[in-house]
Amino acid sequence: MINNAIPLRIAGVGYSVPSTVVTNDDLTKLYDTSDEWIYSRTGIKERRLVSGNENAVTLGAEAAGKALEKSGLKVEDIDMVICASSAPPELYPAIACRIQAHLGIPNDVPAFDITAACSGLIYALSIARGFIASGMYKSILLVATDNNSRLLNWEDRSASILFGDGAGAVVVTASEDGVDDIISIDIRANGSIGDLIRLPLAGKNCPLVEPNDEHPQFIEMNGKEVYKFVARVLPHYVEDMITKAGMKAEDIDYLIPHQANLRIIQAVQERLGYSDEKVVTNIKYYGNTSAASIPLAMAEGVEKGKVKLGSTAVLCGFGAGMTWGGAIVRLREGIV
Ligand code: UT7
Repeated sequence: MINNAIPLRIAGVGYSVPSTVVTNDDLTKLYDTSDEWIYSRTGIKERRLVSGNENAVTLGAEAAGKALEKSGLKVEDIDMVICASSAPPELYPAIACRIQAHLGIPNDVPAFDITAACSGLIYALSIARGFIASGMYKSILLVATDNNSRLLNWEDRSASILFGDGAGAVVVTASEDGVDDIISIDIRANGSIGDLIRLPLAGKNCPLVEPNDEHPQFIEMNGKEVYKFVARVLPHYVEDMITKAGMKAEDIDYLIPHQANLRIIQAVQERLGYSDEKVVTNIKYYGNTSAASIPLAMAEGVEKGKVKLGSTAVLCGFGAGMTWGGAIVRLREGIV
C-alpha cells in the first residue's frame, strides 16, 4: 500500500437469496440428469432461483440494506455505490443506480457496475480500497448480485445445473483506528481464454451493413476447460498470495472461496492444509451464485456461527474473463 494511505474498515455485510428452492431432483423434469450425477461432480443439492419479479436488483437491494444496517452507517453516509454483476436484469441503468434509488442513497453520489463475473466482489473491494486509501471517498457500498437463472439455457444440462441466484453486500469505510481490514488484495485477468465462459448479447447489425454472426443470449460455458484452468491456477495462487503477505496458511482462520464446484474448493483447501472447520462452503444449498457467492458465504457463515468474528479470512474467486483474485481480510465483531 502507498505511504499515508487511509486504512479501510469492513463495517457490515449482508446477503439475500430468493425463497424458491429448485432441487437436483426437480431438474430431472427438464432433462436427463440425476441428483447423484450433479452432487458427486459439484457438491450441489439445490439452488435458489428468482421467481416472478424478483431479480438481481431486488436481491441486491435487500442484501445492501442489511449490510448498511449492520455497518451503523446511514444512507447519507454512503458516497459511492459499486455493484459487481455478470447476470443483471438489464445492462443499464446500472444495478448500482437502481439500488441507490431503492435505498434512498443521496442522488448525486456516483454509482456504477463492474463485470468481473465471479471475481466481482474482490474486484469491487480492490477498487473501493483505492478510493478510500487516497482519501477521495470515505464510505462505499459494495453489492454483488446475479440472477443467473434468467440467462441460462435450461436445455443445457452441463451449465444450468451449476448456477443459482443470490446477492451479497459489504459496506466499507475509512478506518478510524488505524487498523486496515484488508491485509492483502490482488486481482488478475487473462482475456486470451475469454471464450471459456461467456454471455453474448443477442443483437443484429443495421440491415444496411454486412450481418454479424448471431448468438443466442445464454450463458455458454466450457465447464471442463474452466475446471482444468482453475484447478491448475487457483491453489498455487492463493498459497502465493498468503506468502507474499508475509503470512503462513496457519495464520489465517478461514478460507471463504467462490462456490463454483466443491472439488475446486477442496483443491484449495488441500493446498493450504486446512481442516473442514476452516473452510466455508454453502454450495450444497445455493449452487454457484457468481459474483454473490463470496459475500453470501461470508455473511451466512458468520450468521450461522461457522465463522467466528475477530478473525481473519482468505477470500478467493475466479470466473468469466477469465478473472481471478484474492484478499486476506479481518472480520471484526459487529459486521453481521
Ligand atoms: O463460476 C463459474 C466457473 N465455472 C466453473 O467452475 C465450472 C467448472 N466445471 C465444472 O464444474 C464441470 O465441468 C461441470 C460440473 C459443469 C460439468 O462436469 P464435467 O465432468 O466437466 O462434464 P462434461 O460437461 O464434460 O460432460 C461429461 C459427460 C457428458 O457425457 P458423455 O459425452 O461423456 O457421454 C455429458 O453429456 O456428462 C454428461 N453430462 C451430464 N450427465 C448427466 C453433462 N451434464 C450432465 C448432467 N447430467 N447434468
